[in-house]
Amino acid sequence: MCGIIGITSKNNIKFDLIKCLKNLEYRGYDSVGIYLNKLIKTKGRVSDLEKLIDDSINSSCGLGHSRWATHGIVNNVNAHPFISYNQKFVLVHNGIITNYLEIKENLLIKGYKFYSDTDSEVVCNLLDCYYLKYHDAFKSLKLTLNNLEGSYALGIINLDEPNKIYFAKKDSPLVIGKSSNFNFIVSDINSSYFLTNEFIILNDKEYGYLDSDNIHIYLKDKEILKNSITLNLDNKEITKDGFEHFMLKEIHEEPKVLKNILDKYTLNNKICLDPLFIKELINADEINILGCGTSYHAALIGKEIIEKITMKKVNVYLASEFSNVNLINYNSPFIFLSQSGETIDLKIAYNNIKNKDKIYTFTNVLTSSLAQLANKAFDLCSGIEIAVASTKAYISEVTLLIMIAYKMINKDEIFINEIYNCINSINKTLNTKESIYELATKIKDSTSLFFLGRGMDHLINLENSLKLKEVSYIHSEAFYGGELKHGSIALISKGINVIGLITNEKYLTLLSNIKEVESRHANVNLISTSNLNINSQYVIECNNELFTPIIVSPFFQLLSYYCAKLNNRDIDKPRNLAKSCTVE
Ligand code: AGP
Ligand code: GLU
Repeated sequence: MCGIIGITSKNNIKFDLIKCLKNLEYRGYDSVGIYLNKLIKTKGRVSDLEKLIDDSINSSCGLGHSRWATHGIVNNVNAHPFISYNQKFVLVHNGIITNYLEIKENLLIKGYKFYSDTDSEVVCNLLDCYYLKYHDAFKSLKLTLNNLEGSYALGIINLDEPNKIYFAKKDSPLVIGKSSNFNFIVSDINSSYFLTNEFIILNDKEYGYLDSDNIHIYLKDKEILKNSITLNLDNKEITKDGFEHFMLKEIHEEPKVLKNILDKYTLNNKICLDPLFIKELINADEINILGCGTSYHAALIGKEIIEKITMKKVNVYLASEFSNVNLINYNSPFIFLSQSGETIDLKIAYNNIKNKDKIYTFTNVLTSSLAQLANKAFDLCSGIEIAVASTKAYISEVTLLIMIAYKMINKDEIFINEIYNCINSINKTLNTKESIYELATKIKDSTSLFFLGRGMDHLINLENSLKLKEVSYIHSEAFYGGELKHGSIALISKGINVIGLITNEKYLTLLSNIKEVESRHANVNLISTSNLNINSQYVIECNNELFTPIIVSPFFQLLSYYCAKLNNRDIDKPRNLAKSCTVE
């Protein structure tokens, strides 16, 4: 995953580089490094790096990197940037070079030494090797790229031309930012809003170089002209707005996100979604939806609701397992759900689908790779999500899928009215946080916790369980109530915490499953949408069963948040994770 930044300017760039690196940290945060006039890198966060930077360190051209390790353990040596063996190049890399061992072998024979275990250092030394032979950095870059297999976003400085940054991109995100006094490369636009609003989106296999005045982009040996886009970015600085964490702030933004969706997609009580897209869904035999993690869970809920109200079959695929699926209906439309729009598993799935005209992306980042690749991209309207654990974007994804379902059956008004009800319900949940905090105090010390539900409640619980794991590190699993007796009940013992969810009368049989675990001395708390008159019950009112995922999820997101807070976790940047998964 990793975040990379490279700025070349007429002025010193230290503060901008570090600020950008802080904004990029969500992409990977096990170690960090910069090259200004010196190389400084360390295990840990940008805040640890800052302690190592003194006044002597500054330059008008430099590189920065925030790592999520793939090759080589997390330590100072494996952190980026790398300097090549003969001190000719400095390099930062995002991605995985799959043939790095082969290249390394050849370089070892030529006398190169390697200090790290990374695939990235190999690229740096390959550049160095060509440069010693041809004394031409651009030629060395082209020859190096010809040898690389795998994915890369590369930022490179040739130390003989210290004001120029070379770059290359394949299957890892990279954009160029333009300004009057400086130009830069960066992994994502959001992190560099504060520098400019003019960007050039790079496509795969493009490479080139830039200095503070000029940008040169090449594809297949030919220089190409690419237009820049100018974004209207009203919110240049993303702050916590007084909340202790971004996660908490983002959960509180959910009512606003629903309002944004209504503002964007409805007019005069009608849902205004591309009619051709809706027609294609209506005419299709089946609809395919792909996603990973939280987006996958949103897709499962979308399937449930679309199938229920349109009677159209929906297939949901984990993008990371898509290539292992046997029967796929390629004639049907594909919806790619991705908050970041950069998830590599989805890009790989995209490459495996021949008819690209049928691919639609729902994403929060319209400038992202998956948005660019799709036949059409739809905005999740969540606004930038900073916390690594997705909350408000999940609500958007579920809402957009429900919106499609209602549009397909022309029941626009019902959808719109229900979303207003959802806004009120979420506001109520946000105003009764004390009871959620109280529940968190009861479960925070669990070594294992089980969510029980039936039907759609189980699908909601899959996400509830992921959220709890992600931010609080409490092991949890979601089970179908009726399945417990077929094996998993063996895990229940005295004091185990169980959370039951009942959002529909149809699922009242879960009460029997709850009795079963209580009989084995589990501690049960029940969350339901009507009062079932039992102990340890939390009621979240909801009148329309199809909208329960939107209404009850914020409760569980807050529950995970409070468990994480009570356990002193690094809530916005949980260990081992990264916001955008750009490696396989
Ligand atoms: C979210 O809480 C997770 N960290 C993760 O599962 C995420 O949803 C997944 O990586 C998919 O990301 P995307 O929506 O950006 O494609
Ligand atoms: N493969 C490189 C490393 O391990 C970059 C990792 C990444 O982009 O996530 O350092």
